[in-house]
Amino acid sequence: MGVMCGVFAVSAESRTDAGELTLQGLRRLEYRGYDSWGFAVRGSDGPATITKDVGKISEADIAFPSSGEVISHSRWATHGGVTQANAHPHRVGRVTLVHNGICENYAALKQAFPGHEYVSETDTEVIARVIDHYLGQGMGPVAAIRQAVEQIEGRYAVVCFIDGQAGIYAARRGSPLIIGRNETETYIASDIPAFLTETNVVNYLDDDEMVHIVGGKAEYFNLTTGASVQKRDIAVQWQYEQAEKGDFAHFMIKEITEQKDTLKAAIDHTDTELNRAVNLLRECNGAYFIACGTAHKAAMVAEYFFAEVSRRKVNIVAASEMKYFQQFVNDRTAMIAVSQSGETADTLEELQKAQTKGAKILSLTNVVSSSMARMSDVHLPINAGPEQAVASTKAATAQMALLLLLAYAESGRTNEGRELLHTVAGNVNDMINPRYEEHIAEIAKSIVERENLFIIGRGALAPMAYEAAIKIQEVSYIHAQGFAAGELKHGPIALITDGVPVIVLGDDLETISNATELKARGAHLIGVSAQRDDIFDEWIRVPDCGTAQCIASIIPVQILSYHLAVLRGVDPDKPRNLAKSVTVK
Ligand code: F6R
Repeated sequence: MGVMCGVFAVSAESRTDAGELTLQGLRRLEYRGYDSWGFAVRGSDGPATITKDVGKISEADIAFPSSGEVISHSRWATHGGVTQANAHPHRVGRVTLVHNGICENYAALKQAFPGHEYVSETDTEVIARVIDHYLGQGMGPVAAIRQAVEQIEGRYAVVCFIDGQAGIYAARRGSPLIIGRNETETYIASDIPAFLTETNVVNYLDDDEMVHIVGGKAEYFNLTTGASVQKRDIAVQWQYEQAEKGDFAHFMIKEITEQKDTLKAAIDHTDTELNRAVNLLRECNGAYFIACGTAHKAAMVAEYFFAEVSRRKVNIVAASEMKYFQQFVNDRTAMIAVSQSGETADTLEELQKAQTKGAKILSLTNVVSSSMARMSDVHLPINAGPEQAVASTKAATAQMALLLLLAYAESGRTNEGRELLHTVAGNVNDMINPRYEEHIAEIAKSIVERENLFIIGRGALAPMAYEAAIKIQEVSYIHAQGFAAGELKHGPIALITDGVPVIVLGDDLETISNATELKARGAHLIGVSAQRDDIFDEWIRVPDCGTAQCIASIIPVQILSYHLAVLRGVDPDKPRNLAKSVTVK
């Protein structure tokens, strides 16, 4: 069934090592999916040879024949089993194809285009079948692909070889495809790190466009009209090294450590850039912040930031719940999307709905070329650099830092916000060091056998308690739950028994009083705060950061989650069942 995956293809006429090159690039996209993988390698003649299997691409050992053209895919299954047959590429007739997205009407298409014995349970094989059908009717490749994808309902990025036709074809609607190019080689990938070792010159394929690449040439077409499209070359700023692990054991800990620098980068925006966002907010009389998962928890702190700093009530809604509130969206509404990838389907779809009603779109994303960034009236990049670990860490704190600066900018106190955040960045820089990490690793050892863990916080630290739970759950598989500190006594306190660990974010009087109630029932309290309180059994210091306390306080919990994962033998970069960029609904 539908997949949201990593796609990487290379056309390099003068090279013979395209297989190895694609393997390395696909490994850099592994965060997008790691159930199974596959390659189609084109030799000098005949159809492409397909090699595919279940398992992680990082662990695959493949001997590639000499080739200059390869299509590859790393899969994250939504429905349908993780089997070799379901792994991509899929081949039907003359067409060898990989797909990212979901073909919602695949069953109807199968009926409409009979005459093929399906070997997989995917929604992908039928796309190859439909393209092959039109080729069989005598259409050229561009026409056949246009005819076929026009009938797909849902989001997709497809990349294919066609027997007897030089080069590689790709088309997109809703799932990212980026073209990288140098003089003799062209790449098509779901994300830039795949080809950053080879080039930083890119073209972005837009929705309803397709591309045909051969060697160093790329030709673009509009899928609806068939007209040729001209693209501007863009040199991306990301460095290849940024997307590598370096001396770190995992991307997750590398990215946690990078928060020494990323907070400063996040607020590196001129007054003019911030004012465009502020004007958009001021001209609207309702504001909805939408996001998913960790980005949603980061957006939730904006409610507290705007209340405290600019005395404005804003709405924060999980994007998957926004449809119930779309009735209130009109041409006076500001929709603010918070997203690392800028491609998350739930968020993107609600933005699109709002945009058709005339709402103004402001987005804060990490990927500047993303669909959200490009559809926005105003876009503010969060400047965190490539985030590869599935669990979001540096992007989340960058989002919060920029949201706080935005609240200050809206209240006309941009410089005050900048000063505060520069101090916070400096404090975080001092805080993250090997001794600090060792201390947290020791605490991880003391709770690693526990099955349940709770986190509490108040004010902007309440969303951080929810975020802490996400971090711990997703990489260590320990059952963790976050609560607003005051809510515990209204039910969840029944779960507290002797020795149950509770992480207490903050040291204000009310939180301590809530923590005391838990301690009285046997809880093992781990304080994460500026001041040590006597009731804490263990304590992790965070610097006093005022309004920005939530930003600094989540970092030790990220470190704790990382160590819990490592201690429990989980690969924190690739926890089970997850994928980084959730481009399906
Ligand atoms: C968890 C995590 C996810 C993402 C969510 C939204 O650590 O990373 O919960 O935050 O899938 O993704 P983006 O930010 O790309 O929209």
